[in-house]
Amino acid sequence: MEGKPLAAAILADTAGRVARLQAQGTDPTLALVRVGDDPASKVYLKRKGEACHTAGIRSEDHVFPPDLPRGDLLEFIREQNRNPRVHGILVQFPLPRQHDPMEVSETIDPDKDVDGFHPLNAGRLVSGLPGLIPCTPLGVLLLLKHHGVDMEGKAAVVLGRSLIVGRPLANLLSRKSPGLNATVTMVHSQSGDVARFTRQADVLIAAMGRPRSVTGDMIKPGAVVVDVGINRIDDPASPGGRRLVGDVDFESARPVASRITPVPGGVGPLTVACLCRNTWAAAARDFSDPLA
Ligand SMILES: NC(=O)c1ccc[n+]([C@@H]2O[C@H](COP(=O)([O-])OP(=O)(O)OC[C@H]3O[C@@H](n4cnc5c(N)ncnc54)[C@H](OP(=O)(O)O)[C@@H]3O)[C@@H](O)[C@H]2O)c1
Repeated sequence: MEGKPLAAAILADTAGRVARLQAQGTDPTLALVRVGDDPASKVYLKRKGEACHTAGIRSEDHVFPPDLPRGDLLEFIREQNRNPRVHGILVQFPLPRQHDPMEVSETIDPDKDVDGFHPLNAGRLVSGLPGLIPCTPLGVLLLLKHHGVDMEGKAAVVLGRSLIVGRPLANLLSRKSPGLNATVTMVHSQSGDVARFTRQADVLIAAMGRPRSVTGDMIKPGAVVVDVGINRIDDPASPGGRRLVGDVDFESARPVASRITPVPGGVGPLTVACLCRNTWAAAARDFSDPLA
């Protein structure tokens, strides 16, 4: 299940929505905030800016030094909250130590929270209320839907319980809603033998940040496998001596799974496309269910 074609389709659809909004006098704008020089953050923000450009969304880069005081970042976010020209605010994680990611997420206006990390949006998601849905879980569900993977009555196993990926995904998959209605197991670092759970999964979603740790022998034959993990490993044969791999060992998993996402080129492009979709939603103040 390649992510790029669907990501391109989501961006094209979003571009149409953005153009209609612009014709009505609203120019969707996203504030992209980076603190420090984390190389991966630079790459991610560059991709996000490029995707915005493709979708016709104005993106504004705000880069701060690594020693930016905690209070200054919070005050900057409050300024963006008050700025009527800005519809979405994204603060790239990880942040330097002096910042508390949860405090940062809570400071962003929930209606400009295009990452969907604010506790109010997390609560809306759990309650099945309209709100901004975190980009990676939304991308995964759109990918499954696009490939006709009906979750009804399926055993879904989510590896990871982070607030960014695992937990919202598990919640969405188990939603009482046509096409979802899965029975979900959420596995974490204290679950013990992970394979005991993965072998039960009709749909297996890996989001642990553990390179190639899910091998073919851990997968139920015919299962659908979605690999969210993005890990940089040493590889002397690759240019630069490093390469990206997922949490799933693609080579051993591929013959066992009925469908599987690659890394890179799977979930990653969908995350970025869903960020643009969320920015349109924030600008349009249209929080209706993108999965409906
Ligand atoms: N493709 C994309 O667009 C995208 C977007 C976001 C993240 N990612 C990638 O997805 C991965 C997960 O991201 P994240 O932000 O959710 O990471 P995270 O916050 O570090 O969470 C990792 C989760 O995996 C669990 N875990 C770790 N080791 C485990 C093990 N050996 N067995 C079972 N569970 C284990 C942790 O359990 P505890 O809760 O017990 O610690 C935690 O819940 C990373 O590789 C990240 O780079 C990709």
